Amino acid sequence: MEYLPLEQGLMSYHELEVLQRQLNKAINAEDSSGEVLEIGAWKGQSTLALAKYSKVITIDPFVEGTFNDFTRNVNASTYKENVELYKMTSDEYFSSHSPKLKFAFIDGSHVHPHPYKDIRNVWGRLNANGIMVVDDVNLPDVMKGIENNGLKDIMSVDWERMKLGILAKATH
Ligand SMILES: C[S@@+](CC[C@H](N)C(=O)[O-])C[C@H]1O[C@@H](n2cnc3c(N)ncnc32)[C@H](O)[C@@H]1O
Repeated sequence: MEYLPLEQGLMSYHELEVLQRQLNKAINAEDSSGEVLEIGAWKGQSTLALAKYSKVITIDPFVEGTFNDFTRNVNASTYKENVELYKMTSDEYFSSHSPKLKFAFIDGSHVHPHPYKDIRNVWGRLNANGIMVVDDVNLPDVMKGIENNGLKDIMSVDWERMKLGILAKATH
């Protein structure tokens, strides 16, 4: 099965394909050093879409009680060996870890100041060809996080089809 059923995730299949395309760009870039990181796993659909192509570090305190669904879905997947979970908030994670990154998907708390902090923590750790994808850029606090990091001008969004913002370090 290419993706988990839609009710196990919050993204459309089109968005998952876009996410995978951006990940593969980062994997095949001249500088492909560093890790692949996700903030916000929920039931694991986006996590497993990334894990098909790479080891992925995913961070989630499971505030919505989806830990058991996440665990069941990951354990049933062919790609489970590629998933490394940190069951904590992104602030807790970055207070004790500082990985270099090639790719990150930000889809954790959508309430200010969390998007701002997640974007800042990720952007500073991306390699020269790194790519950051931010979900729900239609939400005011997420857009504020992009703007307050000075990144709005380099973000590309296909507003008609989705709400994923794509930000590539090389264009900055
Ligand atoms: C929109 S859902 C993620 C959906 C998932 N990416 C998908 O597409 O299936 C948001 C997730 O962020 C998590 N979350 C909430 N606050 C967080 C925080 N401070 N740090 C990391 N994750 C957080 C929630 O527990 C929830 O599972």
